[in-house]
Amino acid sequence: MPPVYPFDKLTVFAELAQRHEGGAVDLSIGTPCDPPPAEVLEALATSGSERGYPASVGTVELREAASAWMSRRFGVEAAVSAIAACVGTKELVAGVPHWLRLRTPGRDTVLYPLLSYPTYEMGAILAQCRAVAVPARPDGTMDLSSILPEDAGRALCLWVNSPGNPGGQLEDLAAAAAWGRSHGVPVFSDECYIEFTWAGPGRTILEYGPEGVVAVHSLSKRSNLAGLRAGFFAGDPDLVEYLSSLRRHAGFMVPGPVQHAAAVALRDDAHVDRQRAIYLERLTRFAEVLSDSGIRAQPPGGSFYLWVAVPEQFVADAGPSGAGPAWELTRWLAEHGGVLVTPGDTYGRAGAGHVRVALVQPDQRLELVARRLSTARISSATSS
Ligand SMILES: Cc1ncc(COP(=O)(O)O)c(C=O)c1O
Repeated sequence: MPPVYPFDKLTVFAELAQRHEGGAVDLSIGTPCDPPPAEVLEALATSGSERGYPASVGTVELREAASAWMSRRFGVEAAVSAIAACVGTKELVAGVPHWLRLRTPGRDTVLYPLLSYPTYEMGAILAQCRAVAVPARPDGTMDLSSILPEDAGRALCLWVNSPGNPGGQLEDLAAAAAWGRSHGVPVFSDECYIEFTWAGPGRTILEYGPEGVVAVHSLSKRSNLAGLRAGFFAGDPDLVEYLSSLRRHAGFMVPGPVQHAAAVALRDDAHVDRQRAIYLERLTRFAEVLSDSGIRAQPPGGSFYLWVAVPEQFVADAGPSGAGPAWELTRWLAEHGGVLVTPGDTYGRAGAGHVRVALVQPDQRLELVARRLSTARISSATSS
């Protein structure tokens, strides 16, 4: 039996939030609300590529646009021949362990960050592999020294995610690449939030060369195109060639019009710069809104999420549901702010003391939450 999908567990809170006049403000799933560039939509409608089957590996146009984007934005040169398309990145994340295991059946372990996007673990489960979570150091980077030699010896891959979902932390990608090379373990670096890096420039693992590493990129967040399902992976020529040829056999294809539209999006940076300003403003403003209610939130190193520590009062008073403090804060925010957030343990047990707030609603919806919360403060509310 497949487990309950993480966001389906929030229905009860969505109903609570919905009772507010103006309805629920959904800051749970990281699904963009801002419009994609008009020229991308135009490209989608006019590519003329509907009739024939699209290239599974990706059109030359898409792969050249991806290579040029990485060179322009992050200063890395990725060979077009070592880039391949994927149908958004979630399917790739979920599929990699299975495909790697087909080639190396003697290995059965997926290493991934303890606090992370749930699909890294799910990919391991779907491949009947062991999912071994790697804890973080106090600075948020993975504690690679904690990986046991027997786990490293059985590892099919190591996942890293920078900027990280949900915590917004920036990974030490040099250390991850070096660890992978010295242990003979491919490192997959999920970089879908790279354009929303706030602490310094966007960083990719390909800065340390392609050998043994694969960078995974998505148009979903960068260009507000989650509905298009477009992404790509780039790096080690042998890994990219192996994965893309296997994916071709299995029939993974990004639709032709989507490939063209994605190439158009990748060639434009102006819309991304506008979006960066929007997210930065929302992160700052909503951190203030929460702080006025007695909930402290630090701005993240990257991403459009606030990773909010559950206030002491909720930790002391585990609450009526017994589900833990993050769930109680989620309930409180739904009740008092009409806002839906995600309890942190959705991202692993290390997240149990936090909630994740995705700043993916228009400013006037966020201001609606601010007005609702303006009369609510944690200290009085928990005892009521
Ligand atoms: C860390 C991370 N990786 C991958 C994805 C998948 O994005 P997509 O499948 O839209 O490319 C998400 C989506 O939320 C994410 O947060």
